[in-house]
Amino acid sequence: APLAGVIGMPIAHSRSPQLHGHWLRRYGINGHYVPLPVMPEHLAEVLRILPRAGFVGVNVTIPHKEAVLALADAVTDRAALIGAANTLIFRPDGKIHADNTDGYGFIANLRQHAPNWQPDAGPAAVIGAGGAARAVVAALLDSGVKELRITNRTRLRSEQIKSEFGARLVVYDWAQAGNMLEDAATVVNATSLGMTGKQPLRVPLDALSSDALVTDLVYTPLMTPFLTEAASRGCHVVDGLGMLLHQAAPGFERWFGRRPEVDAETRRVVLE
Ligand code: ATR
Repeated sequence: APLAGVIGMPIAHSRSPQLHGHWLRRYGINGHYVPLPVMPEHLAEVLRILPRAGFVGVNVTIPHKEAVLALADAVTDRAALIGAANTLIFRPDGKIHADNTDGYGFIANLRQHAPNWQPDAGPAAVIGAGGAARAVVAALLDSGVKELRITNRTRLRSEQIKSEFGARLVVYDWAQAGNMLEDAATVVNATSLGMTGKQPLRVPLDALSSDALVTDLVYTPLMTPFLTEAASRGCHVVDGLGMLLHQAAPGFERWFGRRPEVDAETRRVVLE
């Protein structure tokens, strides 16, 4: 039976084993998906061994998403642009192929829960400039967003993203985050603010149009204070859980030979 898993440290909190385990049972596939706690100093050795131990690939999470790029034999353009990989495929000859499906997951979630969303209806506003934001920026630019505004507490990180992703980006100061929402058609919280145990994201929403689509990468809780406030202003809001579910689908298909469905049942299993 083919083996897959998720490499991280810590890894106990990961929802990926439940998600893939659910899909394996649902489709009657004889395979296994296991959490693999791996220390950074052991990453290279583990990646050499796994293909020889029956693994067809792995997901990669914190703190290894950047480091795996240097260890892979082939890296997709989007993973190289984002500077991180979340999905590894082990080829039959043992060679490692690295991809990043976070941006795909982000867009697939919006398409599923906001089918009328038009990326080019107006500027996109991305709050945050960490690793997750880079995948969102790449995906939005790919989807045809004409102007992408970005802000981050540490301004240098937004400047860095602009220097890599180019002319369609406009950097806003963190203190001006509210202003960047004016005319925005798409608004994304890509910071960790609003997560259970953290402070809420505090951005004045007065300039936000009720036509805007607002989404959050945080999914614990599903309805963050930011989404709740946007919803109370009449915006269509999409929670971040679907991004997690959709980013997992391409890996599952490559490893186990079947494209899995992402639906209400999938959401339920991961929330249990
Ligand atoms: P990830 O890969 O999940 O994006 P990350 O690279 O650590 O993780 O990025 C976390 C994001 O949340 C960053 O945009 C970070 O802002 P900084 O670049 O200034 O650190 C943002 N963030 C985290 N805690 C924050 C806080 N208390 N206030 C403002 N932004 C915060």
